[in-house]
This record gives sequence, C-alpha cells and structure tokens, in this order.
Amino acid sequence: MRGNWRLAGGSRFLGCSRRSSSSAKSSSTNESDQRLRAFRGIVQERHSARRFEPNVAVPDHVWLDILRMTSTSPSGFNLQPWNAILLRDPEIRGRVAKHSMLGFGNQYRAVDASAILVFCSDLEPSKRVDRIYDLERQAGMREDGYMAVLRVASSFLTGESSTASLHSSGGGSSTHLSTMLKKTFTDVLSPVQPMPTMENVESWSYKNVGIAAQMYTLAATAHGLSTCMMEGYDARRLKEILRIPDRYGAPLVVATGYEYDAPPVVHELVEEQDEVEEISKRRRTPRLDLSDVFFGDTFGEPLDILLKDRDLVEDTAA
Ligand SMILES: Cc1cc2nc3c(=O)[nH]c(=O)nc-3n(C[C@H](O)[C@H](O)[C@H](O)COP(=O)(O)O)c2cc1C
Repeated sequence: MRGNWRLAGGSRFLGCSRRSSSSAKSSSTNESDQRLRAFRGIVQERHSARRFEPNVAVPDHVWLDILRMTSTSPSGFNLQPWNAILLRDPEIRGRVAKHSMLGFGNQYRAVDASAILVFCSDLEPSKRVDRIYDLERQAGMREDGYMAVLRVASSFLTGESSTASLHSSGGGSSTHLSTMLKKTFTDVLSPVQPMPTMENVESWSYKNVGIAAQMYTLAATAHGLSTCMMEGYDARRLKEILRIPDRYGAPLVVATGYEYDAPPVVHELVEEQDEVEEISKRRRTPRLDLSDVFFGDTFGEPLDILLKDRDLVEDTAA
C-alpha cells in the first residue's frame, strides 16, 4: 500500500548542480558513490506497474518537478519534437480507457493511475525550427557553424514532407516522396563521403519521444511513483478524444501513480542498498544476456569486458 512508500531521496542527488572541474576533482569518493547508488536505485526500482492505487492524487509540485526533468531530455538538433498531455481528470481518463485502450489491463491502469501522460510526437518538426533557433540564439551557447546549419540541416534530417495528414492516425504511410528523394540522394553520395542517414519523420520523431518518455519514467520513479508505459490503444480514437491535431502522432502513454500493494522502497540510506537490490530483483522482468546485446568492435563480435566478467564470476563460483 501507499503507506509503505518512503519517497526516494535520489532526487537530492540527481539535483546536484554541475561543479567546476577543480571542485569536481576534490569531491570525495563517498559522494560519487552515493550519487551512483541513488541512480542505480532509481534504475532498479523502475518497473512497469501492473496495478495502481485508485483515487490517489499526486501533489502539483511533484508533477511540476517531473515535467521539468522530462523536458531536459536530449533531442536531435534540440528540436524537442514532443508535447505531452497530463490527464488527471478521472472523467476524461474514463473515456480514454473505455473508448481507446486495448485490453482490460490497460483499461484499468488508465482509470486507476493518478494520471496518464499522453506523449505526442511532432510530425512537422520544421515548424519548430524558428522558435528553437531563437532560443538557441538567446542562450548563446552554440558555435556560429552550428547556428548557420541549424535550419537547413534539421529540416533535411527530419525527412519531413508536407503530407502530415498521412500520419493523422499515427499509422499512415510514412515513406514520402521527399524522404525517398533525399534517401536516393544520400545513398548515391554515401560511397563518396559520409552522408546523414535518412529516416522518415515519424520514426525520427518517435525516437525522440521515446527518449523523453524514459526520462519521464525515471523522474517519476525518483519521486516514489510507479509507471507503466503503454502502446496498447487505438491512437486514432485517443487523438479524437483529446483533440490532438493531425500534425502530431500519439506513440506512447504512461500510466503514473502509486503502485497497489507496492513493497517498501528505500534507497536513501547507503546501508539499505542490499535490501533495495533484493526487492527490485524480485520484481525485475527478465532481460537478454548482456553478451546477446552488446558487441565489441564489429557487429556480433564478443565484447571483451563481458568475457572477462564471466570468467571472474566463474572463478568466484568455483
Ligand atoms: C513502447 C512500450 C510499450 C508498452 N506497452 C505496454 C502496454 O500496452 N501494456 C502494458 O501492460 N505494458 C506495456 N509496456 C510495458 C512492458 O510490458 C514492460 O516494459 C516490459 O515487460 C519490461 O518490464 P519492466 O518495464 O517492468 O522492466 C510497454 C513498454 C514499452 C517500452
């Protein structure tokens, strides 16, 4: 139950400001250990909650902090091709659940969670370029060369055409003429010199949104909340209910709230780290072996540090 939860202290560490290199050098091992433990605790704690405690509101300042952290996500050319709708109103969530979510699990998660965050991906990101350009100019952090190419390169890379309506259901044909032309152009030149990889705007935008969504889940976890990313819904219906314009896709929603019957989670105190690991292990879903995922030097080539690690484990076990 919610009473079991102690809000994670991890945000304290995540909130550390950037230090000068001289003070960073002098920072104690103890402090960096704590930061690492705090982050590892959050990573291990994050999991997809199956059930949420119904009718529990999350305080506004918590939402604000989570959304602020989410907006620090990286994105191609810093175009930030996302919007997100925070659905707290039970009535709207009920409609969304009933008319667009697929399967009972997703339906009751959408209803029970404190909110669902609906991520929208901009399928016409070139419309953001002027605004981003101005922001960048005001911030004054970029080199002149970057600013000079920002407009052209970002529009070129995002592979955008003027046929956004094709995406209106989030699933239309996304291989447009302009992308194909650019792809042909880059394919021809690629053997001669490195060229940007062309992808359609939908995959480019979804890629960026996925990164922001992960930032969101970690930020929510750091606040002691649970999340469940969901793609099991009818995007066309969802867009209709939430009046999401054709310009945007709706690739992902994240149910967020207090997990029903969650085990106690503590990762503030270093001494309790073992307990945290034990708890998170119990509910951790399986993953492929690292050696099936990570390669060294070329595709499929075993990564030496993984081999060494395995030898070490075998030696220790023997
Ligand atoms: C893109 C994406 C879509 C997902 N869609 C759903 C979904 O519709 N319903 C659901 O119950 N879980 C969904 N999940 C959660 C996955 O089932 C879960 O992440 C996976 O089983 C690994 O478990 P873990 O998140 O607890 O580590 C989704 C996860 C991702 C990343």
